[in-house]
Amino acid sequence: MAIFPPEQRIWWKQPLHKQELVWIGVCIIWALTMFFTMIVWHSIGEQNLSNEAYQISPDKFEQRTMEMVEKYQVREEGDTGVPVVHPPAETDIYMLARTYEWWPVLELEKDKSYRLHLSSMDLQHGFSLQPTNINVQVHPGYELVMTVTPNESGEFGVICNEFCGIGHHTMVGRIHVVE
Ligand code: CUA
Repeated sequence: MAIFPPEQRIWWKQPLHKQELVWIGVCIIWALTMFFTMIVWHSIGEQNLSNEAYQISPDKFEQRTMEMVEKYQVREEGDTGVPVVHPPAETDIYMLARTYEWWPVLELEKDKSYRLHLSSMDLQHGFSLQPTNINVQVHPGYELVMTVTPNESGEFGVICNEFCGIGHHTMVGRIHVVE
């Protein structure tokens, strides 16, 4: 019974059974295989993004986002009048997450590059860009930065795919890509 000390107090000094040794070997080889697969998959899997993460306070991130909106807003959109921002290419662009919206709407130019910064004002949200295979977690206190070069024009939806509360299913955003 496990509640009593083992009869052999110095159990780790007993010889290994051959089968145990084989299993330990299998486990080690499998663990290493999975570890290196993670690294290799980054290059060949077309799935894991090359992103950077930095610490930033929600206030500071909001301030930078507001500055971009003030400078480059071109119109408003929808019932709630979300600003649509058309920032110049090769600049830093910001999209913030908060319960329950992605803000603002971005208008980008096709085949131009931008440094996209994402962060959250309150709790964990998910940035899922539809209909592409891009999906990242967004946390308060950290910004995720990635270089994006849209290669297709059209309208892309941003869907929050980390459960964040009662309005989670309404938390959507938009990115326009124009020619
Ligand atoms: Cu934000 Cu779910």
